[in-house]
Amino acid sequence: MTWAIVPAAGRGTRFGGERPKQYLPLAGRTVIEHSLRAVLSHDDVDGVVVALSPEDADWPGWREIGGKPVLTCVGGAERADSVLAALHALPATVDADQWVLVHDAARPCLRAQDLARLLQIGQADPVGALLAAPVRDTLKRADDLGKSQATEPREHLWRALTPQLFRRGGLTRALEAALRAGVRPTDEAMAMERLGLRPCLVEGREDNLKITTPADLALAEFLLSNGA
Ligand code: C5P
Repeated sequence: MTWAIVPAAGRGTRFGGERPKQYLPLAGRTVIEHSLRAVLSHDDVDGVVVALSPEDADWPGWREIGGKPVLTCVGGAERADSVLAALHALPATVDADQWVLVHDAARPCLRAQDLARLLQIGQADPVGALLAAPVRDTLKRADDLGKSQATEPREHLWRALTPQLFRRGGLTRALEAALRAGVRPTDEAMAMERLGLRPCLVEGREDNLKITTPADLALAEFLLSNGA
């Protein structure tokens, strides 16, 4: 039994606009509906818990998608708080050893093949796994004035994507430990790494983009409408 968690309690302030970015229209649906359908599309995924902002006025109240249960909980101030709230809101039948997928509400272009590979590789790993993409650009370290000060070697550097796959108990403990220590992990793998654990990097498609700017939305529209 594998459940998914979709943190959707962010305000999407970098995007601008009235409505949180996960509710913007995209290829005939909303951003979040694409993300939920993508993560629920695999036969091994039994249901999803969505963490919502208490001020959310846009959630359409889904109870199921494609015959799979959709539960909700109230998210928190940071992404890690929202994921932790969703971990606590999983059905009691999901025991501590079971795998949980965490997928951003704002990543609507996840492909079925990437999800299948993540599940296959991650479930065979003692720690778990995340989709990620190797860094392809040359990386510059800036000084305080925004001048290029040094070039960082890009070997061994990856961009973390989602979904990320961990066991319910291990991820709960790792996020609680991070928050207790005052660390605000920006993804789930970061919380695991802090404890000396080494999640497996599963190379995923570059176009599994996180909608952050209007240009991302336009690109996602193209990808989803053209089957690109
Ligand atoms: O802000 P960012 O784009 O990194 O957010 C990634 C995901 O985490 C989004 O789906 C967002 O809705 C979610 N999030 C959340 N609770 C927060 C902040 C972000 O669920 N407090």
